[in-house]
Amino acid sequence: MRWRAPQPIDQRIDELTADARHRVRAGEVEAAWERLGDAHVLSQPWARSHLRVHGSMLGVGWRTRDAGEIAGQLFRLLVAVPGSLTGRYPAGNSGRSDVSAFAPVPVREDLADVLANADAEPAAEVLEPSEVRSLYDRLAPVYDLLSSPYGWFGSKGLAEQAIEELRLQPGDTVVDLGTGTGRNLPKLAAAVGQAGTVVGVDLSPGMLERARRRVSAVGSNNVELIEADMAAFDLPSGTDAVVSSYAMEMLPDYDEVIARLAEQLPPGGRIAVNGLRDPERWPEWVVRVGSALSRPFGVSEAYRSLRPWEAIDAHAIDVVYEEAWAGAVYLAAGSAPGQRSGEDVE
Ligand SMILES: C[S@@+](CC[C@H](N)C(=O)[O-])C[C@H]1O[C@@H](n2cnc3c(N)ncnc32)[C@H](O)[C@@H]1O
Repeated sequence: MRWRAPQPIDQRIDELTADARHRVRAGEVEAAWERLGDAHVLSQPWARSHLRVHGSMLGVGWRTRDAGEIAGQLFRLLVAVPGSLTGRYPAGNSGRSDVSAFAPVPVREDLADVLANADAEPAAEVLEPSEVRSLYDRLAPVYDLLSSPYGWFGSKGLAEQAIEELRLQPGDTVVDLGTGTGRNLPKLAAAVGQAGTVVGVDLSPGMLERARRRVSAVGSNNVELIEADMAAFDLPSGTDAVVSSYAMEMLPDYDEVIARLAEQLPPGGRIAVNGLRDPERWPEWVVRVGSALSRPFGVSEAYRSLRPWEAIDAHAIDVVYEEAWAGAVYLAAGSAPGQRSGEDVE
């Protein structure tokens, strides 16, 4: 997700805006605008950086009591973020109100070189487990509220279908990996009944605390919550099924993890994974906006290459695959084969 410019460009933008402030104080207003124009050209591909440059421009307009510039910058503050996120910004434009906010201009060679080097920067990395933990600990109090719009658009239906795909029986033991605030837990608890057991696993104590409150509010007393990294989590013996909703795609080692889960389940034991996926049928600019909306949950462009449903296909049999939102959310479920694929029977 193009939110903040790579460090060297961000630093250059900071230097230019600091120099502009200094020049305004020294009465060199035109020189200040030149610095800000360069900072603007460098910032355009990144929403946050772009917004900050227009904020600095508004500041200069205000200091110089330039009403046209103040009005122009207020408008540009509104269009900067959508422009960067969708990639529809006028490249090379100085960002001042004396030029159209929509007219591209040839990018000066020195600035074009800086931008070309930025494209060579490595892509954003996926989060380390400690980063996931602290992000979700912070998110825990607002997670249900923030994520509720996903439910309105059908992701909830797919998560419920994932639970149905587990084909649970009373008395079963089921594990929910990346259980979060425990959305799946009441349904799982009801499906396995009092004689069964539900185990919710998550890295984040803050999310687990919310899950604990949820299960006690609905009176499910057959649920156990465990703080653990699902990448290294071994299924308790006797586990009949595993589900993971909107969590497996945060795991770079998903293939290894799903292979191990399929080995640890008894033959025919079900595994169901659902979550967000790179929507191949969406226009790129819509993907970027969607990616921006998922950013509070730690999902960046780096996650676009993670494809847990392929691991279900590779390590399970009797596979079911469904999509919603024109391919932006998926459900993949299958049964443990009970024998490693490729092993010969003597
Ligand atoms: C987007 S939330 C989904 C929560 C819940 N399953 C739901 O559908 O609402 C992702 C959850 O996965 C957890 N998570 C991410 N990586 C994890 C890991 N390696 N081990 C355990 N939990 C993890 C996060 O802490 C977070 O609670």
